[in-house]
Amino acid sequence: FARGLQHFASVDSTNARLLEAAAAGAPEGTVFVADEQTSGRGRGGHTWHSTPGDGLYVSILTKPALPLRDALLISLATGLAAQRAIRECTGLTADIRWPNDLLLDGKKCVGILVETALERDQNAALRYAVIGVGININHPSFPEEIAPLATSLRLASGKPLQRSSLLIALLRALDHELMLLEDISAPREKDLLTRFAEGSTWARGKRVKVPEQGGYTGVTAGLNEHGFLLVASDDGVLRTVLSGGVREME
Ligand code: BTN
Repeated sequence: FARGLQHFASVDSTNARLLEAAAAGAPEGTVFVADEQTSGRGRGGHTWHSTPGDGLYVSILTKPALPLRDALLISLATGLAAQRAIRECTGLTADIRWPNDLLLDGKKCVGILVETALERDQNAALRYAVIGVGININHPSFPEEIAPLATSLRLASGKPLQRSSLLIALLRALDHELMLLEDISAPREKDLLTRFAEGSTWARGKRVKVPEQGGYTGVTAGLNEHGFLLVASDDGVLRTVLSGGVREME
């Protein structure tokens, strides 16, 4: 699956580079990995803190035969793959904050950014998707402003880890998840959502603040059949959440 693995000591963003390479015809399974990113991209236009050496910054090119509406499923599948890789390498089970942040001790250790390109001539099919994963592995600490929100696998497990082990475990788990997702003969959507529900205690019964629709508070109530988060809002309405940025309240 990981066909051409290209390593960068330092790069602006592995996602940005791989999107460019994809536009220029790079094959499915191309993997870009960096020791450091100088302008790592996060979701919602944020930057992703990418110091040299301590984290895994990786982007994977996939060309799934899927309609655009399945882009969310790729995000959910990647979260599950990262959760499995972390479990294999540390024995720890990270919780998944919808759609795909991984949390240990309530703090974020993995961020995922899936960027897609559409097919022009077919109706809204996915031409390719670049799956970007940032894993905080060996950070001994974080800058003051993000310390309350961020952790690393080393901080959570008490042990340093080899980044290459995580990379291998992640690529294998992701390969498996994407294969399941592309198997249209299987009840793949239902299966993915069932496993996500098992893997995310956060998605049920967590008191949260939702920024969209003018902002509201409520309690997470699982996912709908398309993979969107449901929140029972305090005014008694069951609302569907369309984008990330949902945060737990104390
Ligand atoms: C988030 O905001 O949680 C998503 C962060 C995604 C970071 C990864 S690191 C590798 C890849 N390249 C990027 O520029 N971003 C993603």
